[in-house]
Amino acid sequence: MTGIKILFDEKIIAERIEQLADNIASKITGDFIIVGLLKGSFIFLADLVRALDKVGLTPQIEFMRLSSYGNNKIGSEKIEISCDSADNISGRQILLLDDIVDTGQSLSYIKNLLQKRGAERILTCVLLNKPSRRIINCVVDFIGFDVENVFVVGYGIDYAEKYRHLPYIGFVE
Ligand code: IMP
Ligand code: MG
Repeated sequence: MTGIKILFDEKIIAERIEQLADNIASKITGDFIIVGLLKGSFIFLADLVRALDKVGLTPQIEFMRLSSYGNNKIGSEKIEISCDSADNISGRQILLLDDIVDTGQSLSYIKNLLQKRGAERILTCVLLNKPSRRIINCVVDFIGFDVENVFVVGYGIDYAEKYRHLPYIGFVE
């Protein structure tokens, strides 16, 4: 119908998110803030926080939106922040959430920024990891799934602002 080949269906994603919540609960205690990177992480964040509630974690939730100049990012200096509610994080424990870690530039740039703002501890979590594409060796503490070098969409992730609404993750055939 949409011409999307499913990689991870709703059930697989839901099961993995429950496991991620368990892993997160074993590494984080006390107050923390989830900083979700928009727009791609919005569905992942919504499902993850409800899974975290089931394991007794009650994070504060903030968002940042990244954009980059042009289509080809070639360095973190090309990354711009166009929306930012994570402005009061000094001394706080952060779980930084994104949809995908690809080259690693976005995640490492934001992690550095949150560090400069005085965060006490920053852990990172992504739903999808493309290890073959990494340029910057950033540590990712929690990973949903590894994927090959394919362009994925759905479950919050877009191609030219399409497909974010899909309940599953797939790639365009
Ligand atoms: P990085 O800075 O290269 O790690 O880029 C990560 C960002 O690139 C993700 O947050 C996504 O917005 C985007 N991205 C990377 N791979 C894909 C993909 O397969 N589909 C859609 N967006 C992607
Ligand atoms: Mg993104």
